[in-house]
Amino acid sequence: MKFFIDTANLAQIKEAQELGVLDGVTTNPSLMAKEGIKGQDKIIQHYIDICNIVDGDVSAEVISTDFKGIVEEGEKLAALHPQIVVKVPMIKDGVKALKYFSSKGIRTNCTLVFSSGQAILAAKAGATYASPFIGRLDDVSFDGLDLIASMRLIYDNYGYETQILAASVRHPVHIIKCAEIGADVATCPLSAITALLNHPLTDIGLAKFLADAGKK
Ligand code: G3P
Repeated sequence: MKFFIDTANLAQIKEAQELGVLDGVTTNPSLMAKEGIKGQDKIIQHYIDICNIVDGDVSAEVISTDFKGIVEEGEKLAALHPQIVVKVPMIKDGVKALKYFSSKGIRTNCTLVFSSGQAILAAKAGATYASPFIGRLDDVSFDGLDLIASMRLIYDNYGYETQILAASVRHPVHIIKCAEIGADVATCPLSAITALLNHPLTDIGLAKFLADAGKK
């Protein structure tokens, strides 16, 4: 399973990259705003800065909601850097745009996927990635991991090449369960990735090894 980091924070992206386990980055307008990145020029420069830190795919989200606007914006974003993947919302014009981008060889990430039906549409439209938001489903008392399992089954039934990009990941158990089910990618906050390191027996074991190494 690939690990993407879900942030626009350059320091966190660098930290994950230096850990050696990072395969890409996802951003969205909320994550950009959280870092205080405002205005088209600054947003574009920020995408380029992110691409210069990581080797993998970097999702850049359109904010248009009509077909023409999504296509114009997406083509500009895709032209910024070969690592850019155009992030398109799961709406009717978004599905049309996914199909258009797919026919032009522009890679896409269909975002705001909350149901298996939406996931089928994203795959049929040729999305490179489909992003189910598992934490936000958990927030409204649906098990987000059930959606990952349903998508895995459906995509495997028909050999869809669209990759399942588990998003709105909140904690390490989400990551482990996504890996068990067979998500292609999990995009996570840095805190969820580094939480995978933690085990008290590792700490106790290491402390004993170091203490024993110091004995004469
Ligand atoms: O990848 C989508 C993500 O940014 C949303 O996360 O925690 O706001 O549901 P969250």
